[in-house]
Amino acid sequence: MDRIRIRGGNRLKGEIPISGAKNSALKLMAASLLTDQPVTLRNMPRLADIEAMADLLMQFGVTLNIRRGAGLGQSDTMRLHAATIESAVAPYDIVRKMRASFQVLGPLLARHGTAKISLPGGCAIGARPVDFHIKGFEALGAKIDLVDGYVIASAKDGLIGTMIDLPFASVGATENLMTGAVLARGRTVLKNTAREPETEDLGRCLIAMGAKISGLGTSEITIDGVERLSGVDYTVMPDRIETGTYAIATAMAGGEVELLGARAESNTVLYGLLRGIGTEVTQTNRGIAIHRNGVRPNSVDVTTDVFPSFPTDLQAQFMALMAISDGTSHITETIFENRFMHVPELARMGANIRVEGDLATVIGVERLKGAPVMATDLRASVSLVLAGLVAEGETIVNRVYHLDRGFERLEEKLSSVGADIERLST
Ligand code: UD1
Repeated sequence: MDRIRIRGGNRLKGEIPISGAKNSALKLMAASLLTDQPVTLRNMPRLADIEAMADLLMQFGVTLNIRRGAGLGQSDTMRLHAATIESAVAPYDIVRKMRASFQVLGPLLARHGTAKISLPGGCAIGARPVDFHIKGFEALGAKIDLVDGYVIASAKDGLIGTMIDLPFASVGATENLMTGAVLARGRTVLKNTAREPETEDLGRCLIAMGAKISGLGTSEITIDGVERLSGVDYTVMPDRIETGTYAIATAMAGGEVELLGARAESNTVLYGLLRGIGTEVTQTNRGIAIHRNGVRPNSVDVTTDVFPSFPTDLQAQFMALMAISDGTSHITETIFENRFMHVPELARMGANIRVEGDLATVIGVERLKGAPVMATDLRASVSLVLAGLVAEGETIVNRVYHLDRGFERLEEKLSSVGADIERLST
């Protein structure tokens, strides 16, 4: 199993190309099920989760071709063609590994009229139920049974537009229901919807395929169903979580890094916080430049919440920054109930963090110390890499497959800006 070795202490200098957004790309791939025409997706990130979604779609009969980009910054282009849907079963083995597989439910129901999708079950960061998705599809007229851990859904005569008020602005439920409603009969009004940029990206792609959607980026999305959607050639938005991760890395290690392709508006809260603790964040004509001299940052409090607030997917990385800051930081996690799995691992590196319920109190220390640590989930594992960049001595991050799910060529990108980091294959 691969591991990553980091020797801390290097400043970062240079440029990092930002990949396409994983959380957008996965849903765009699922949306290819909505049409019998080819869908071309550009700026695709090269990640284990993308491969898992590709495997799932091929099981449904989607033909898939990838044109690989050559070096760093040369992204992949994927062509997906769901000419016919041969099977609509998403087995436990795939859904268990990647919860985003559940997002095929909407497109399959809308186009095929039936679907059998394994329930995702819990994961390292909490229970993560799918009740909003299920209630939403029932409201759209689907018949849903839960049998042996599977959701068996049917809407033989098609989905029917209606009004759905989500109990929480869930990203997955908004997107799943939106991709179902685009082919429903009549108008669907989704209330209390997610406003995340990736949800907007999916909506924009659906519109380019011929869907009638208004209200993207707001808390109310209106969808007028159409008979069919066409193919599309669409470019995936840049990954704001990867961007934020490298911005935080630069704030921690010091130096000057330009994040190529990054968009300022996707990370407004993070950049405000970074500026507040003495990091320069500048928009350039190629992306965002982050600059920090060697001075230790001050601690600051942060609370995760739905977009446009601070994203839960950057909470672990920000905690690594606060672990070496001057003062005490209170970090409140409001989205997932068990998302402090990185705390014991950061503590192994000398961080001083106390957790009570959804609140982590981080008392900054002057220096972290390298240690062997274990990745527990996608975002937690990258926070250990960031800590390793500034720790004294050597850090070995085990269970790197978590990183490979969501960070494209992380060690190549970081070593290209001067970090001492390498992958050890065993
Ligand atoms: C997506 C992102 C994930 C991000 C999260 C929040 C993808 C592939 N993943 O996950 O990286 O951390 O948004 O920004 O895009 N909930 C329910 N019932 C439901 C659905 C959700 O109770 O039916 C709860 C969840 O348990 C969680 C909260 O709502 O506590 C937020 O979940 P949601 O916004 O749906 O996140 P995901 O779509 O799973």
